[in-house]
Amino acid sequence: MKAAVYTKRNSGKIVEIVDIERPVPQNREVLIKVRAASVNPLDWRMKVRRPGVDVAGEIVAIGNRTTRFKPGESVFGLGRGTFAEYVCAPESRLAAKSDNVTFEQASCAPVAGLTALQGLRDKGRLQPAQKLLINGAAGGVGTFSVQIAKALGAQVTGVCSTNNVELVRALGADLVTDYTEQDFTRDERSYDVLLDNVGNRSLADLRRIMTPRARCVLVGAPKQAGEILARVLTAIVWSCFLRQSFVFFIAQPKPEDLATLSDWMRMGKVIPEIDRRYSLSETGKALAYVEEGHARAKVVINIS
Ligand SMILES: NC(=O)c1ccc[n+]([C@@H]2O[C@H](COP(=O)([O-])OP(=O)(O)OC[C@H]3O[C@@H](n4cnc5c(N)ncnc54)[C@H](OP(=O)(O)O)[C@@H]3O)[C@@H](O)[C@H]2O)c1
Repeated sequence: MKAAVYTKRNSGKIVEIVDIERPVPQNREVLIKVRAASVNPLDWRMKVRRPGVDVAGEIVAIGNRTTRFKPGESVFGLGRGTFAEYVCAPESRLAAKSDNVTFEQASCAPVAGLTALQGLRDKGRLQPAQKLLINGAAGGVGTFSVQIAKALGAQVTGVCSTNNVELVRALGADLVTDYTEQDFTRDERSYDVLLDNVGNRSLADLRRIMTPRARCVLVGAPKQAGEILARVLTAIVWSCFLRQSFVFFIAQPKPEDLATLSDWMRMGKVIPEIDRRYSLSETGKALAYVEEGHARAKVVINIS
């Protein structure tokens, strides 16, 4: 089968499409014929040999202890090295895909959808009618966040650049701030929950627009390791004195949350937005585009 791999050439790593052996599902794994896989920043950041985590496709074989799925079923979820014609994934990291959701759409949901859902509901403890600000509302996590926050009944302000104002509004945001024209941290409004998908503002800046007991969920990290450390230390020290919370968080692959996303996509509460589509042979271009940092919603690799 064909699969994308990072290989070392000259001075840097590049993506190549190579022929490798088709994997065999073990125990509670299933073998998926990949129909679509979406790209996340972690795919270019981690540079593991076989990139790709999000997947949607059809089950073609199952391990001897698999109980939840059968061959022929359509699923989506998380695997390793999903930019390939076939991939094995544990059944606990998958959910059934509804017929009215395309493989492309389903492939967008795992990392970005889980991050948005867990960030808002569990870490932000977002309640109906609360005021929420999403910094980075137009990216993969952002476009899921806007829709999920509206499904949870929040009043949503999204922050994005001029090109994406209409998109973020169309996804349901009540207010949109164009960061090229206005500094959202100088806003007169204050918010019960902040979801920061960008990591480009200091905690002191973010604190200016937080209500006295607000929660700030930090999804995206600054680019420099030193700045990340400074953020963590500031959050730890502040947590001793402030009633406001700053929460660092890594999304978890919970099957019940994938099932929630599956239901919401089936019902049309959440409709994944797709920016660009690539073929498997164009995986390098897809990764480079996401690495530029201005992908509009999700980028999908169609595989078969
Ligand atoms: N903690 C976790 O578990 C977790 C999970 C997933 C992702 N992440 C991290 O979260 C971040 C976002 O992920 P993603 O998948 O949404 O990435 P993405 O799709 O690549 O995000 C691209 C978006 O970022 C926006 N953006 C760039 N600069 C901005 C700025 N200064 N202000 C506001 N928006 C800006 C762009 O909008 P404009 O073009 O309008 O600027 C673009 O739409 C990444 O750093 C990723 O590594 C963390």
